[in-house]
Amino acid sequence: MSTATPALDLKEDILRLKKERNAIILAHNYQIGPIQDLADYVGDSLGLSYRAQETDAQVIAFCGVHFMAETAKILNPEKTVVLPDKDAGCSLEQSCPAHALHKYLDDHADRNYYIVAYINCSGGVKALSDVICTSGNAVRIVEQAPKDRPILFVPDANLGAWVMENTDRKMDLWQGACYVHVEFTRDSIQKIKDEYPDAVVVAHPECTTAVRLLADEVCSTEKMISFCKNAEATNIIVVTESGMLHRLQKEAPDKNLIPGPTESCACSDCKYMKMNTLEKLHACLETLEPQVEVPEDIRLKAEAAVVRMLEQSK
Ligand code: 13P
Ligand code: SF4
Repeated sequence: MSTATPALDLKEDILRLKKERNAIILAHNYQIGPIQDLADYVGDSLGLSYRAQETDAQVIAFCGVHFMAETAKILNPEKTVVLPDKDAGCSLEQSCPAHALHKYLDDHADRNYYIVAYINCSGGVKALSDVICTSGNAVRIVEQAPKDRPILFVPDANLGAWVMENTDRKMDLWQGACYVHVEFTRDSIQKIKDEYPDAVVVAHPECTTAVRLLADEVCSTEKMISFCKNAEATNIIVVTESGMLHRLQKEAPDKNLIPGPTESCACSDCKYMKMNTLEKLHACLETLEPQVEVPEDIRLKAEAAVVRMLEQSK
C-alpha cells in the first residue's frame, strides 16, 4: 500500500482557502486561463474597481497587476488586499513616477492643469490627480472635465490621443506607453487583415494611432466581449494582450478569434500579467502575503480621484 501523501488539488485548495479567509478572487481579462476560471469576477479595470468597491469579503485576492490591487486597497483600507506576485508591475505606471509628475506640475504651475490620470498609474500619481479614468470610461470622464482649465492626461499618450479624437477637448499628453500594445504595428496588423479579408478588427486604445486606424472598433477589454458576441463577421482579429482570447473564446464560441500579431510573434503577452500563477494565488491565500499597502495621506487623496471617477461613470 502506498504511503505517499496525495498530491494537493490546487484548485480545490484555493477554493477551500477562499472560503476560510472570507476572500473574493478578482481577475483581470489578461490573467492566465486557470486563474480566470476560478475567479469570482473577471473583467476590465473599471469593472474590477466597482467589484472592489462593492465587496463585503474581508480579503481581496487581486489577480492582476500592482496598480489594480492598489486601487482596490485605496477603496478598502480596512480590508486585506493580496497580489499573488508583488512584482507584477506595468510599463505605463513606470513611465510616470509621482516625483516626475510633481516636478512637471511645479514647472508648469501657471497652467493650473486639471489632471486626468489613466488608472494604470501609482497611488502617488492618483493622489496628484483630479480624476481617474479607465479605457472603458475615458471619453466620458474627459467630457466632464471643467471647460475653463487645460487638461493634462497621464500617463498613456496613445489612450490620450484616442480620447481627443473622440471628444472636442484638447489635452497635453504625458508621453507614456504600454510596451505590449505598441508592439502591434500597421504592417503586422495589415498582414493578418490580408490573410482574412472578411475579418473585422477590434483593438485596445493603448495601441498606436496607425494601428487604431485599421480597426473597426476601439474599446476596453470588457467592451470587446460584447463587440465580438454581436459582430456579424465570424473572423475577428483581436488586437490586445493574448489573455483576452481565453474569455472571448468562452463567451463568443461561434467566432473565429484571431490574436493580433506583432512583427515577431503571433500574439503579444504582458509579462507582468503573466507573473501570477495558481501556485502563487494559493500561497497568497494561505499566508495572506504579499499585502498591498498605501500610506494613509496618499490613500485619502487618491481615493477622492477614484471615487470621482466611479461617480462620473455611473
Ligand atoms: P482594460 O481596462 O481595458 O481592461 O485595460 C487594462 C490594461 O492594462 C490594458 O493594457
Ligand atoms: Fe500595463 Fe500594458 Fe501590461 Fe496593461 S498590458 S498591465 S498597460 S504593461
